[in-house]
Amino acid sequence: MSFIKLTKERYSVRKFSGKAVEDEKLNLILEAGRLSPTAVNYQPQRILVIRGEEGMDKLKSCRRDTFGAPLALLVCYDKNVSWKNRSGKEYGEVDAAIVITQMMYAAQELGLGSLWAAGYKEDDLKKAFSIPDFLVPVSVLLLGYPAEDAEPHPTLHYSRHELEKTVFYDSFEGIEAGENTQGKH
Ligand SMILES: Cc1cc2nc3c(=O)[nH]c(=O)nc-3n(C[C@H](O)[C@H](O)[C@H](O)COP(=O)(O)O)c2cc1C
Repeated sequence: MSFIKLTKERYSVRKFSGKAVEDEKLNLILEAGRLSPTAVNYQPQRILVIRGEEGMDKLKSCRRDTFGAPLALLVCYDKNVSWKNRSGKEYGEVDAAIVITQMMYAAQELGLGSLWAAGYKEDDLKKAFSIPDFLVPVSVLLLGYPAEDAEPHPTLHYSRHELEKTVFYDSFEGIEAGENTQGKH
């Protein structure tokens, strides 16, 4: 499937069927993450594969819904490895986000659904999964087959700005400070 078609068809799945994800598909998803570009190719991503009832219950104990997903990838970066630019800007989170995005689209191509879940408290995740201090948890990617009646969120999924709002040619002249029109979560 063309990439542009994948981007049009993907949506955040918030209702998964109980069907397990085959190891073969999981490995292809992890491979898509492995091949991600990262700053200076430092590859600081460290991914915890969470599956099975025990693992998913532990994730639920971090006070977030897992929407029935049978599998989750907890993506962290190693802060001893990640690139910092000359202004000291940390790129570990950017790298992790690219890895998550590539895995998200690999999952989509394989007929799976995903939900990028970022609302966890770092401390909860660190405690539940005994994450060492040198790892920084970035986000969880929930994965699984969408339930038969899974649907895109009725407002969030369909609400995208026109390009004129987000893209500027040659200068930012005339741009006005933005305002969050999506509401606070
Ligand atoms: C960085 C990031 C964090 C997100 N965190 C959450 C989350 O914690 N819970 C949730 O339900 N959706 C989360 N989402 C999904 C977004 O709400 C969703 O991508 C957006 O509303 C557009 O909808 P769509 O993905 O269905 O097109 C997150 C997405 C991104 C990219």
